Amino acid sequence: MTTNNLIRIKDYEENAKKLLPISAFEFFGEGTGHEYTLKNNLESYKRYRIRPRYLRNVEKRTMVRKIMGKDLAIPIGCSPTAIQKVAHKDGECAAAKAAQDMGTIYILSSHSSSSIEEVTKAAPTGRKWLQSYVFKSREVAQEIINTAERLGFEGIVLTVDFPVLGSRNIIAQYGHPLPYYLKKAILEKYLDSGIISNSAEVTDPSADWSCIKWLKSITKLPIIAKGILTAEDAILAVEAGVSAILVSNHGARQLDGVPSTIESLPEIVSAVGDKVEVYVDGGIRDGTDVFKALGLGAKMVFIGRPIVWGLFHNGEQGVKNVLTILRNELDKAMAISGCAGLDDITKDKVIHESHYSK
Ligand code: FNR
Repeated sequence: MTTNNLIRIKDYEENAKKLLPISAFEFFGEGTGHEYTLKNNLESYKRYRIRPRYLRNVEKRTMVRKIMGKDLAIPIGCSPTAIQKVAHKDGECAAAKAAQDMGTIYILSSHSSSSIEEVTKAAPTGRKWLQSYVFKSREVAQEIINTAERLGFEGIVLTVDFPVLGSRNIIAQYGHPLPYYLKKAILEKYLDSGIISNSAEVTDPSADWSCIKWLKSITKLPIIAKGILTAEDAILAVEAGVSAILVSNHGARQLDGVPSTIESLPEIVSAVGDKVEVYVDGGIRDGTDVFKALGLGAKMVFIGRPIVWGLFHNGEQGVKNVLTILRNELDKAMAISGCAGLDDITKDKVIHESHYSK
């Protein structure tokens, strides 16, 4: 399919579905359990409405916003997804370069198929954060975090929703679809040397919030807690010293039945939104979804699978296309609802559908 036929994010998904081996497509696409939460991540956005305001001079528009103290060109970043070389031979390097050129943040998965050094070389000036788990081996966590810090990464995204691997159908059916020629570049040496045994079971189920204190003792980088779904945990995370919260349900891959992320966002924003930046990922497939998330209090959003589908279509350019589609759709949504800047996307512009059935 040519790029001209790929107009919406959905088109990139359908293209990947047609052309990728089923095990690889499903590896990216699947959720956990019966996939109720996976569907709800998407459906929830449809339950919010945009309340447009007109005659507000929207001729000059900008979507620049300060994130972690520095201007970001678009409020749409790349969430970490594992082994991106399954989608394209240039994997993480291509995606990080695309994010750099689009002026946004790229989060590198600790389960990536490219090393921290390779990604740094591919996107030297781009803003990059490293995703880490609470690894059973603190030595592994410390080494990879120190490497990222030394190479100019600007934040550590600690994924907290992974005490154990969720119940995944594809892994049960096909095993892990990692082609024999691909390596988990960051974890490879620890797997080879036996420091960690099985990459799906590297996280520490005994971890508690004190791990943030330990993290802060080994790095000066800001810590972003990823995977929080409740106000209670958001408060604990802030008390423990995180600099930001990424509201996420791991793309509905960990526990079926948890809320969609856009359902959880408001309680987290009202609990801690005045103290730390709050971001959200999960189910964002249109610029109007980005608009709704910002209206409900997210400072920016992140996307996971759409990056992979873009990569699959044509590497770096495909990722740029996907980010450009969302940027342009957000720009239209802003113009046609009376918003010249992101601060104009206020709470009153996004409302739950139940408001209209009263
Ligand atoms: C993920 N996600 C993820 N999260 C994380 O913290 N570390 C990781 O290594 C991965 N790996 C991963 C692989 C694949 C194939 C998917 C689909 C997801 C979760 C990811 O960061 C993000 O939270 C979701 O993908 C966001 O939802 P959408 O945008 O995919 O709907």
